[in-house]
Amino acid sequence: MYILAVESSCDDTSVAIVKDGREIISTKTFSQVKRHEIFGGVVPEIASRCHLEAIGGLTKLTLEDSGLKKVDIEAIAVTYTPGLIGSLLVGINFAKGLAMALDIPLIPVHHLRSHIASNYLSYKNLKPPFICLVVSGGHTSIIDVKSYTKMKVIGKTLDDAAGETFDKAARYLGFPYPGGVYLDKIAEKGNPDAFKFTIPKVKTCRYDFSFSGLKTSVINKINEFRQKDITLPIEDISASLRQTVVNYLIKNLKEATVKLNYKKVAISGGVSANALLRKVLKKQGKENDWEIFLPDLKLCSDNAAMVGAQGYYEFMNGKRAKPNLNAYASMNIEEPGLL
Ligand code: KG4
Ligand code: ZN
Repeated sequence: MYILAVESSCDDTSVAIVKDGREIISTKTFSQVKRHEIFGGVVPEIASRCHLEAIGGLTKLTLEDSGLKKVDIEAIAVTYTPGLIGSLLVGINFAKGLAMALDIPLIPVHHLRSHIASNYLSYKNLKPPFICLVVSGGHTSIIDVKSYTKMKVIGKTLDDAAGETFDKAARYLGFPYPGGVYLDKIAEKGNPDAFKFTIPKVKTCRYDFSFSGLKTSVINKINEFRQKDITLPIEDISASLRQTVVNYLIKNLKEATVKLNYKKVAISGGVSANALLRKVLKKQGKENDWEIFLPDLKLCSDNAAMVGAQGYYEFMNGKRAKPNLNAYASMNIEEPGLL
């Protein structure tokens, strides 16, 4: 079954055609990074307008590239939550029109579910149940993936996300937006033990996260150097922050994995491209006899292929969009009966 998928939740416009939820037939992505870079972050209205300009052409190119005809497409999948409302609306409205014109079903897909599904494209044999750490610019959660469509939140961030923490620190250190990837590279040259940034304690669930205090303490440290007019040890700060964040993520993930008795451990989302996170998780896999799943680097950040993958399993489970499908800025991954 060929599904044409559309992703426009933030600042990447992406279209893909995916076969049976596991094989990417063709995909095209337009990254808006250059349009937002000068503002140091995503400007929602610019993002919506860029999606509007890109989405039609990208779809045409994706279809041409696939060698398929419109009649071969059996369903359209689209991200409907969470994300920037204006951005989501562009993708949803386009997908609605396409599904109507082709007279095929429309499948609404939760963005974080699709991040988890990026692993189905990278590992053809991966099947739920497994545990997955979803780490992106806006989200940090540990998810019990009970089946392709049944998920339970085991831990979540109470404030900022891991990616946001990297991006904010990176901005203060002078890296371009989005800084996480630059911080990761420069951290390779630094001493991870140069600075002690403490891991915050949370009073809720032991698998929950909190990054706001950590973010502030890194910014304070950077300001200390600036006030004293001392050269910023960019490499050491980057390496120390990266190590603190990764250790924190791994600590909670490990505890949850042991508690739920999982042997299959996956990660997903933009931050899952982080070199240290991937390295430490592989090591943990060896030490604990876990099977580790790390999505291909090109599938870590936002893309439509993962929407096509999750869309397939949602379709098989009978999920269809109603004609009045709307966009939602946030929604629990368990999808509590809104549709
Ligand atoms: O999943 P994603 O593309 O968008 C969201 O859904 O948020 O994630 C983007 C986030 C950004 O915060 C970016 O800095 C971060 O992923 N990121 C990284 C790396 N590559 C991307 N963070 C740390 N290390 C990386 N290598
Ligand atoms: Zn994302």
